[in-house]
Formats: sequence, structure tokens, C-alpha cells
Amino acid sequence: MEENKNASLWEAKREARAVRAYSEAFRAEHGRLPAAYTRTYGCQQNVSDTERLRGLLEEMGYCLTGDAAGADLILFNTCAVRENAEDRVFGHVGALKGLKKKNPNLILALCGCMAQQPSAAKKLRTHYPYVDIIFGAGAVWRLPGLVRQVLEGQRGLVELEASGEGYVEGLPVRRDGKVRAWLPIMQGCDNFCSYCIVPHVRGREYSRPFREVIAEARSLVEEGYREITLLGQNVNSYGKGLGEEESFPRLLRELNRIEGDFRLRFMTSHPKDCSHALIDAVAECEKVCSHIHLPVQSGSNRVLERMNRRYTAEKYRELIAYARARIPGVSFTSDIIVGFPGEEYEDFLETLALVREVQFHSLFTFIFSARSGTAAAGYPDPVPPEEKGRWFRELLEEQEQIGSRLYRREVGRTLRVLLDGPSKTEGTLSGRTESGIIVECPGDPALIGRFKEVKITQALNWALLGEICR
Ligand code: SAH
Ligand code: SF4
Ligand code: F3S
Repeated sequence: MEENKNASLWEAKREARAVRAYSEAFRAEHGRLPAAYTRTYGCQQNVSDTERLRGLLEEMGYCLTGDAAGADLILFNTCAVRENAEDRVFGHVGALKGLKKKNPNLILALCGCMAQQPSAAKKLRTHYPYVDIIFGAGAVWRLPGLVRQVLEGQRGLVELEASGEGYVEGLPVRRDGKVRAWLPIMQGCDNFCSYCIVPHVRGREYSRPFREVIAEARSLVEEGYREITLLGQNVNSYGKGLGEEESFPRLLRELNRIEGDFRLRFMTSHPKDCSHALIDAVAECEKVCSHIHLPVQSGSNRVLERMNRRYTAEKYRELIAYARARIPGVSFTSDIIVGFPGEEYEDFLETLALVREVQFHSLFTFIFSARSGTAAAGYPDPVPPEEKGRWFRELLEEQEQIGSRLYRREVGRTLRVLLDGPSKTEGTLSGRTESGIIVECPGDPALIGRFKEVKITQALNWALLGEICR
């Protein structure tokens, strides 16, 4: 496996060099390098994959552009987690037809989770034949080879086989920001929650070796990044397959030892694997933010069981209580699915009760979306969409009240904020607290990338306003 991955890296490098020759020829003819536009759908894993795809594009001699209409290559990195995520992609791919007509040399590429799904890939082939390249979520490193083939005159390439090879180390990365960085520590998922497409499209769990993760974190800190978010669908099972001791709490402790002024976050934690050892590590590592994103999905044991989540609402409450006792000022965020097949209003009320009790800083809420190929897609689902919509709004209203009370509570306090960029309002900066809340405050752009004490003066629904103390 290790050897294969090295071979993948070398192949990617060799192919990138071949494409570079085309890019140079393009420059000789047009007086500029070819331009590439990328768009990312879905979660941070995809954002992180796109950063590597952009690194490869640069290595292939493309310059990156924010203007799709002027691009010579357009790449969409797609998501399949809910139907509306897929619909958006199809809509946007449809809109590319005009561009392709105007410029037949335009290369259109589609990758990621949706591309990996057989039904979506088939739909693309039949209804969007002008897409030149389709490749799956595990085939990031294949981009240069596929582009080379298109440049040599081939069209309609589909590469879905290369998934499940784990993570190819050493690919170039073009990161979006200079302050906050994503660091993938694992790929795939073995949990098969009954509603979820991710294990089907992302393949089996694979943990990157300790030394690679630590080396990448070190170089991020050296480059001046101030916040590193460790990424995985289920970071708590990090280390499976690497040997017993290489667990996630140990990884956190090792990363915490890296010298420098930076903080660490991680997502996502699965409650079934969230151990006291992990909570202890969060409590004891001063660089790890006192914030845990712990998706509960439902407060009803009946529903949790049918979701195949493998924990109970009681276990979840116990974890929250333990974390509250161990980590001063800890905050929680969560994901919730409303209207899971067979869920009844009484089940939903249990979710609502749990939400009231835990007091999450914020919630990501979704109405169940049937994904073909998953177990829950075949479950009887008698509750009409309008009814689910009513439950959904009830949950949103409850959370709005909780969120706004928690936000208002911060007014008058002084919080440590990482200033990460200019905000939309002229003369003000935007940043985040340890619990991930956005804070806006007047300030000099020279302060971007610094931690500052900010006195909170006002709470909005989505952010806090404040003034920098020193
Ligand atoms: N690995 C993460 C979640 C990744 S998907 C975890 O286990 O917590 C992000 C969120 O999308 C999930 O937490 C879930 O709330 C939601 N989701 C996933 N599949 C869905 C579906 N079929 N319908 C509605 N929401 C879904
Ligand atoms: Fe999906 Fe469950 Fe895996 Fe999360 S843990 S990605 S919800 S299957
Ligand atoms: Fe979507 Fe794939 Fe992430 S399905 S949520 S982009 S892992």
C-alpha cells in the first residue's frame, strides 16, 4: 500500500510535468498561462481536497482564477450528502454548457463525492456529455493524468476506481487562507449510519500516519498559521489500523507540544467513540479549543437505533456532563436530522428536550433526505413533508432563542479572538472566539493573524461585535 501511494505521487508529478509543457505552449501562443477555476461543495474535507487539487493545478502550470467565464479549465468538487446538494451541482453544471459552446477547448472536470456515486455519474454521462472528466473523491492525485489525456484529445473520461487507496502524501497544497488551515488526519468512514452516503462514496476509513500529521502541523505553524483544524468524518477513531497506541487523544497531546502561538480544533467527533480520554486531552491541552462539535442527530433512542448511531441519548448526556465538569467554559455544537423515516412527533420532542438541556452554541439542522444505496432510503417514511417542515421550524425557533441568549451572555466579557481577515464592513476585522463564534471589531488590517483580547459590546444573531482591548 505504502509503495502504491509513492507510485501515485510520482505518477501525479510526472503527469503534472507533462501538462506543464502544454501550459507553456499555451503561454507562447496566448501570452498568458491557462486559467483554472475551482468550486467546492459540501464539507471541510472537500475544501481540503480542493486545496490539494489547486496545488496540483498550479504545478500543472495553471494560474488560479476566481472568474469562471474566463477560465480554460473548470473543476467542481461535489457533495452528495443531501439531495439539494446534488441538485445545486446539476444546476451549475447545466449552466456551463454555454461556456463550453463558446470555448470548445474549455476543460470541464467534476470530482468528489457526487461523482463517485454511480447513479449521479450515470446521469452526468447521459445528460451532461460535455463534461470531459469525472473522477471520484479518492482520486485527487489522478487530476494531472486525466487533464493530460484531455489535452491529447480524449473526452468523457471517468475515473472512479482509484478511490480507497488512502491518502497520497506529498501532493502540493494551495491553501485558501494564511491564518486558519485544514489538516486532514483521516479519510473515509466505516460507520454506515443508515441515512448517510459518505461511507459509500468516500470508502473505508484510513488514518494518515502520526509522523505525517505532525510534520504537516509543524510546517503550518512555521508558515505562520494560527489555527489548525484536524479533519475526519470520525476523528475519534483515528489510529485504527496504525497500532493500538496511535489514538486520537495521543495525537492531540503530541500536537499540543509543538511550540508556537496557535490553537487546535477538530471535527467531527462521533459520540460513540468519544471517550473520557479524549475529553481529558481537550481539558489538559492548552492549545486545543474548549469547543466540541458532537453531532447527536436525534434525542430519541428509538430513532438513534434506527439511524445505526450506536449510542443512546443517555450516553450523549453523560459525555456532555463529563466535558462540562472537566473543561471550564466548554461549548458544544451539533448536527440534527429532523424527520428520519419512522420518527414520530414524540421522538422529535425528545430531540427538542435534549437541545433545551444541552444549550448548544449553534446547530446544523437538516431534514432527512433519502440517499439511494443507503439503508434508510428503503425505510417506510409516512410523515408528510409539511409536517416535517413544522417540526423543523419548531427546532429552529428553539435554537434561535438558545443561541441568542448564549450570545447575549457574552456582552461585557473580554474574549480571546483570532483575527482572521477583514469583515464586510469597511475598517473592521473579523475573527473567531475559542468556541467558534464570529466577532467583528474595528481594527488595523496589520492585526490579521493575531490573537487579541476583545471586549464584547453587542450581540447579533450570527456574530458578536466588540472592541480590541490592547
Ligand atoms: N461524519 C459526521 C457527519 C458528516 S455529514 C458525523 O458523523 O457526525 C454532516 C451531517 O449531515 C450529518 O451529521 C447529518 O446531520 C447530516 N446528514 C447526513 N446524511 C443526511 C441525510 N441523508 N439527510 C439529512 N441529513 C444528513
Ligand atoms: Fe456519515 Fe455516520 Fe460516517 Fe458521519 S459517522 S460520515 S454521519 S456514516
Ligand atoms: Fe458531502 Fe462528501 Fe463531505 S458527501 S458532506 S462532501 S464527505
